[in-house]
Amino acid sequence: MIGSHTADCSFHLPEHDEHVPEDLPVSPRLFGICIVSSDSADSTMRHNIRMASNTTTPVITPLAHPEGSNLDFGATVTGVDIENLTDQDFAVLRTALFTHQVLVIKNQSHVTPRAQYELTQRFDPLAAPLYGHGNDSKSGSAAVASKSILHPDLKTIPHQPQVQVIGNGFVPAYEGLTNIQLRHPHHHTFHSTSIPASHDLTHTRFYRWHIDAALYGGVARAPPVVTTLLAVKVPKGRRQTCVYDDGTGDELDVPLGTTAFVSGYKMYDILSDTQKAFARSTRVEYAPHPYVWMSSAKSRSTGLGMVSEGKEMPLGELPEIEEDKIQILPMCWRNPVTGKLALQVHPSAVRRLHLGDGTVVEDLKEGHVA
Ligand SMILES: [Fe+2]
Repeated sequence: MIGSHTADCSFHLPEHDEHVPEDLPVSPRLFGICIVSSDSADSTMRHNIRMASNTTTPVITPLAHPEGSNLDFGATVTGVDIENLTDQDFAVLRTALFTHQVLVIKNQSHVTPRAQYELTQRFDPLAAPLYGHGNDSKSGSAAVASKSILHPDLKTIPHQPQVQVIGNGFVPAYEGLTNIQLRHPHHHTFHSTSIPASHDLTHTRFYRWHIDAALYGGVARAPPVVTTLLAVKVPKGRRQTCVYDDGTGDELDVPLGTTAFVSGYKMYDILSDTQKAFARSTRVEYAPHPYVWMSSAKSRSTGLGMVSEGKEMPLGELPEIEEDKIQILPMCWRNPVTGKLALQVHPSAVRRLHLGDGTVVEDLKEGHVA
């Protein structure tokens, strides 16, 4: 399986007034997500879609969820060609993304890395033209990136360095990369416990719930407005059972290489009033070089944050820390189209919490809000 994944990051940190929570900024920093999904590699289909895109308007169809499900996000898009996107097409996509949070755009297997990057950039025109996690050898960020827990999972496309290739297996040639060995992340390398070997092929877990953001580097590497995934080749055949391992017994039937999404709006909506007030007024301080910092620690079996056993890398052992690059971000973000609040936290990278009254919480292990 190969997927190309772009997570360019640049935005202006929102002003956040913890004393007037209802005034949380209308922020473009909602973690809207757009999936660009290829269908079959049918050249006739590609040609037809290109022709059609000049004369049609994108059609947005909300995903049909099973009866009784409380899922309320996701939509498919047809009648659009990412390689030839008009301003009108983009306006429709933007509204759809902020309305449905995840878009699946069909029949886009012809899309180039450049067009994929340009789509991401179009949502955030002021963003620096960088790969958010850093791979720029001139600035030295490549050296830090090589120590990151993300490093083995990503291969940079040489002619479009904002776009990374992720997947599994050997690939002789792809977009200027040759003889690359892709390795899909596996919970064995990140979780504190593992699914027993006897179930390893049939069962899996959520690897790491995250937002696609560097969470260090100041304004230039602030979280992106959107992230895009282009499915180049998807695995066929056997499926797996994804176990939540959160004590509920919940399971999810998934194809190999699944990326799962969760609604930040739902996470906010189901909080108690006390928890909502806490979330609206609290800011999250992320660790410097968070993916290096967490590389010596282990995740909970749910993929939701790290086990609290003090294994995170001591700050003195991290690459050089520049204080002004440490990011302190709101817990909640307001959707610029709907006005709804979403909870947006990267649980594995949290170092401290800054409460509304100015208190700084250092011990996250004991933290609890009723
Ligand atoms: Fe990601």
